[in-house]
Amino acid sequence: MNITYYGHSCFGIEINGKYLLFDPFITHNELAKNIDANTIKADYILISHGHEDHIADAVSIAQRTGALVICNWEIHLWLKKQGIENIHPMNTGGKKMFDFGSVKCVKAEHSSSMPDGSNGGNPMGFVIESSDKNFYYAGDTALTYDMKLIGEYRHIDFAFLPIGDNFTMGVDNAIIATKFINCNDIIGMHYDTFGFIKIDKSEAIHKFKIQGKKLTLLEIGETIEKGANLIIS
Ligand code: NI
Ligand code: MN
Repeated sequence: MNITYYGHSCFGIEINGKYLLFDPFITHNELAKNIDANTIKADYILISHGHEDHIADAVSIAQRTGALVICNWEIHLWLKKQGIENIHPMNTGGKKMFDFGSVKCVKAEHSSSMPDGSNGGNPMGFVIESSDKNFYYAGDTALTYDMKLIGEYRHIDFAFLPIGDNFTMGVDNAIIATKFINCNDIIGMHYDTFGFIKIDKSEAIHKFKIQGKKLTLLEIGETIEKGANLIIS
């Protein structure tokens, strides 16, 4: 499983030769100037909620690639109005099998409106299970007790958690979330993109480390491979 960071909360994940793209926000991200959204591969685009910093490049990438867009019902209606037809609508609590593995939509404590102000439905996170690895993509969310259900539901190999604070949980709450989801291998997201969510990255990594947990903060454009499970000592 290969993971490429495109900035903010946008990751490309290759699972058994299929390309999943989460929350595409590239063209308007100052920090992602070196990424060309027109070259990103996608067989599936997963959208956690309707805010611009999660959806801005979704229409153009969906049009170019023909990727299947997985999102909530209301975002699906909005995308249809933008001319996108290859959409798989879901909603919180729902699970569906795809050719790369399964997607379960889980609760995110946040808000969701579309860039034009229309209803964006409820925000979601995703639990992805595959023959390779299982992971949790939290989307934008506060720390919530509901995350305990994720830890009880399945073994999560690694998780993408927001750590920028202000609009979502910050580093300290993300560390508590690792206990709820029972996963110590975290990839941080939703930090540094705007002034409101600037963080001290080395302090964040240190805070995880002294709790016996691992926080990975990828460079924009960097690809890592998730191979054998790491034992954090
Ligand atoms: Ni948001
Ligand atoms: Mn956001």
